[in-house]
Amino acid sequence: MDKVIWFFGPSGAGKTTLANKFSAHCQGKNIKTVILDGDIVRQGICKNLGFTKEDRNENIRRIAEVCKLMLQVKITPIVAAITPYKSHIELVTEIIGQDRLLLIYVNSPIEVCEKRDPKQLYQLARKGIIKNFTGISDVYENTGGEYVEINTADLNVNESFNDLLKKIESVF
Ligand code: ADX
Repeated sequence: MDKVIWFFGPSGAGKTTLANKFSAHCQGKNIKTVILDGDIVRQGICKNLGFTKEDRNENIRRIAEVCKLMLQVKITPIVAAITPYKSHIELVTEIIGQDRLLLIYVNSPIEVCEKRDPKQLYQLARKGIIKNFTGISDVYENTGGEYVEINTADLNVNESFNDLLKKIESVF
């Protein structure tokens, strides 16, 4: 598969869960993958970055550039990053190229993500302990462009994953 699979959406929407399941699915088909998860990347190649507009741009830019390198060596990059601004999607598309990018919007309303709050970050954001938190004290923009949308608010994990496979089966 010569495409980058880029999951985007708010914190707690289920990007990591779907990315991990999709990676396991690919490995079962002998497709080599690498997962670039915002939380993990930010402990490594993006360790020096925070959550200002500039830092988020740089975070996304680095992830996209790594994806491009991975494609060259025939590894399928699977990204899980909030990618909160419309301009991020444009940047990613510009770096990777539309024909080599499969954007997946993991759609769960902020209210639902906040109720789940698996890492209790929304709670900290509400208290002002975490600043510039996406959906609370920083924007989550509605993205234009072409993407596949997976609803994770009304479906369980397996239902969402099956919906994903159905929607992108023509790609691989
Ligand atoms: S992005 O905006 O640059 O795309 P990214 O996906 O890498 O974000 O990182 C988001 C993760 O960082 C969240 O899942 C959460 O665990 C953590 N995080 C810490 N602070 C913030 C914040 N202010 N806004 C959003 N996520 C945050």
